[in-house]
Formats: sequence, structure tokens, C-alpha cells
Amino acid sequence: MAGKHKILPRIDRNIARANTLPGKAYSSESLFDLMKERVFVPSWQWVGNEQDLPEGTGVFPVEFMPELLDEPLIFCKDNDGKTHLLSNVCTHRGNILAEKPMHCREIRCTYHGRRFELDGTFKHMPHTKGMEDFPSKCDHLPAVKFQNWYGLLFGSLAPSVDFETFISGMKPWIKSFPLDKMEYDVSMSKSYTIDAHWALYCDNYLEGFHIPFVHPGLTQTLDVAQYETHVFEGGVLQTGIAKGRRSSI
Ligand code: FES
Repeated sequence: MAGKHKILPRIDRNIARANTLPGKAYSSESLFDLMKERVFVPSWQWVGNEQDLPEGTGVFPVEFMPELLDEPLIFCKDNDGKTHLLSNVCTHRGNILAEKPMHCREIRCTYHGRRFELDGTFKHMPHTKGMEDFPSKCDHLPAVKFQNWYGLLFGSLAPSVDFETFISGMKPWIKSFPLDKMEYDVSMSKSYTIDAHWALYCDNYLEGFHIPFVHPGLTQTLDVAQYETHVFEGGVLQTGIAKGRRSSI
């Protein structure tokens, strides 16, 4: 990416030769669009929780990276209890198939009545008798790669690495966590809306040099000298060792 985009001439894998990015890296619309395609389309992202999926057969619509990629997807649980992640866009004229979670035995488009199995296979469409080469492969709903990781549902539109590779870099650091007992607790969850370029926020989050100056409370808790950032394929993990030997990630 750096070689092709003139705004980013000074990126170097060797941090000793790296510079602060120019301001345009955060304000260029063309670079922003390029990053969406190169960074987020191939990435694995959290898209929902297993506990949100319907009991029995049904559908649960989600959006892949709302307000960035806005890709409408739909989790479907079929008669065999198998879960699929599919495009939520009708293959006829692009109508959104499900606006809200519901129990159902098939997916039916409310625009012209096209119907699909819960695994995305095209099933029927009215007034198509006599049509040639119909239905074809492109009439099925495209499937999207997803993985259920201890109840957290991750999806990727065009993964650059498989999920196992993506998550494996983290495993040595979390092996003592009781992951199989994790439960989502809405009362412990907080969301913040930050008016900033996503990369600026990540820049801040990924470097720990500001911690002694900006977060004095955290400085008292963490052994800042042991704060580390681990880069692996498709992800980044930060580890901080709490004073008194309690680790935190
Ligand atoms: S858009 Fe779905 S059937 Fe026409």
C-alpha cells in the first residue's frame, strides 16, 4: 500500500527508520477508501454473540463494520441446527431480506417473493417459468466466512488468513483465561463514540509511551517497563503486567 500511495512514502518495517505519518494520511479520502478495501475487507471482525442467535430455525441480521463497510449480513440457523452467515441482500434486485431477528423455516424476500433455504440456496421465485439457465449459481445467497469462538461470532468478507491463524498468535497469552465460561454482560459493556480517524485512535491505543503522562492511574497499576505490543498475522495484541504480578491484556 505504501509504495502505491504517494501520501505514505516514509513507512518502513524497521521502526528505527520510521517517521510520524503526514497529516494527509488521516484526511485523504482516497487513502481512506483504499484502507477500507485493504485493511478491513480481509480482516476478521466481531459480528455478534452466539446468545443472540435464535433458538431453533430462524435468522439474525447483522452489519459487518457499521458506518465503515455497512455490509448487510444474516446469520441463519437451519433445520439441522447448523449456522450459516450469508449476504442479507436479495440476489434479484438487492432488497434487504431480513430487517430484524425472526423464527422462520426459509428466507422470503418481501419485494418480489424470491425464497431461499436457510443455507442460502435459491428455492423459488414466482413468474420465472420458462426462464433459461435459471436458477444459476449467482441466484444463491453468497456465504461469508465466520467462526464461533467461545460464543463470540467473528466474520470476514475476504479473509487474508484463516481464523485459526488469526487467533493463534493470541493463544499463548490467554491460555489461563477461562474462555469457555465467558458470558456477555451488558451491564459491564461501554461504548464510546469518538470523532476521529480510526487510524488515529489505533495509533494512540497501540503505543504505550503516553501512559505515564495521560493515565497516571494506569501507571500506578501497570509495570510500564513490561508493556509490550505483539504483532501477528491479521492482528495485534498488547500485554501489560500488573504490579504485584497480576497480568492484564
Ligand atoms: S428483490 Fe428480492 S425478489 Fe426481487
